[in-house]
Amino acid sequence: MKNTESILKNIENLKKSASDEISNNSQKSDLEDWRIKYLGRNGELSSLMKIMKDISPDEKRIIGPKLNQLKNDLNHLFESFQLNNSQTQKYVDNFDITLPGRNISHGTLHPTTLIIREICDAFRSMGFQIHEGNEIETEKYNFDLLNIPDDHPARDQWDTIWLNLTNNENNYLLRTHTSPMQARIMEKNNPPIRVVVPGKCYRYEATDATHEWEFHQIEGLAIDKKISFSELKGTLYQMARKIFGSDQQVRFRCDFFPFVEPGVDMSILWEGRWIEILGAGMVHPKVLTGVGYDPNEYSGFAFGIGPERVSMLKNKIKDIRNFHANDLRFLSQFVN
Ligand code: DAH
Repeated sequence: MKNTESILKNIENLKKSASDEISNNSQKSDLEDWRIKYLGRNGELSSLMKIMKDISPDEKRIIGPKLNQLKNDLNHLFESFQLNNSQTQKYVDNFDITLPGRNISHGTLHPTTLIIREICDAFRSMGFQIHEGNEIETEKYNFDLLNIPDDHPARDQWDTIWLNLTNNENNYLLRTHTSPMQARIMEKNNPPIRVVVPGKCYRYEATDATHEWEFHQIEGLAIDKKISFSELKGTLYQMARKIFGSDQQVRFRCDFFPFVEPGVDMSILWEGRWIEILGAGMVHPKVLTGVGYDPNEYSGFAFGIGPERVSMLKNKIKDIRNFHANDLRFLSQFVN
């Protein structure tokens, strides 16, 4: 039995040294040396095989299958390394150094970012600063200070996602528009004020091709002494020409928003139809008094634009939900 054990040990050792050696081979010629050393007629495997004729039948029953297994293992090892080598060789033979390299793919800015930058740039060129605000707002700023009291039917227009953060003084929500920044900016600054506020807004409503529950707005606010309605018109007309082209026509019509008086919407003539792109108006005296401004001293205008809607017109996008679907086939079409 002692003899059997030591033969088995030899088989084990041979397998180990053969596989260690072949893995360390680097040259094609080494592989042939390896084959001769282990699988050749006078190689290690055949000399181990010679034991078979000197051992008892009982031992043969144990050792025989092990030797066969070893032979198969060594042959497999050889074949697999031979295959690898020939593939490497083929690759080296066919390598064409004149082939152009593969492009490294760059990301692009999101279409919403692009249109927000474009619109903000248009206002910046007219002296507006850019400011951002929080997406979590209080009821006071989102509604009350904008002349939208609790029982006002206009609150229906701003279906609200309320947050579970109520404390004694405030009810919190995800802002339904960027207009709350009007009051925040007026409270912290003295006129003259000219500012645009891009940012994300949320509404608790069903989505369809023209409505998303998560979308962007760009709020605008200009406050100074003697600001008139014609300045509102001139500024927004100029913005439309910068974004859509110098011959762009616009139309203003009366509209109602509780925080402006008078209120308007502005449409652009686009492919033969008038399409509304923003709401605007002269800042309501109640909004001015709410933040401590004297409406007899200061006046101003405000506006709110939906940048995704503007991008949809410019880029012929049919469904607003594309902006949040995260589909690269859509996103990669916008090159900055
Ligand atoms: N906040 C309004 C909305 O979400 C848009 C708006 C209209 C903003 C008129 C304004 C404005 O500043 O003057 O529908």
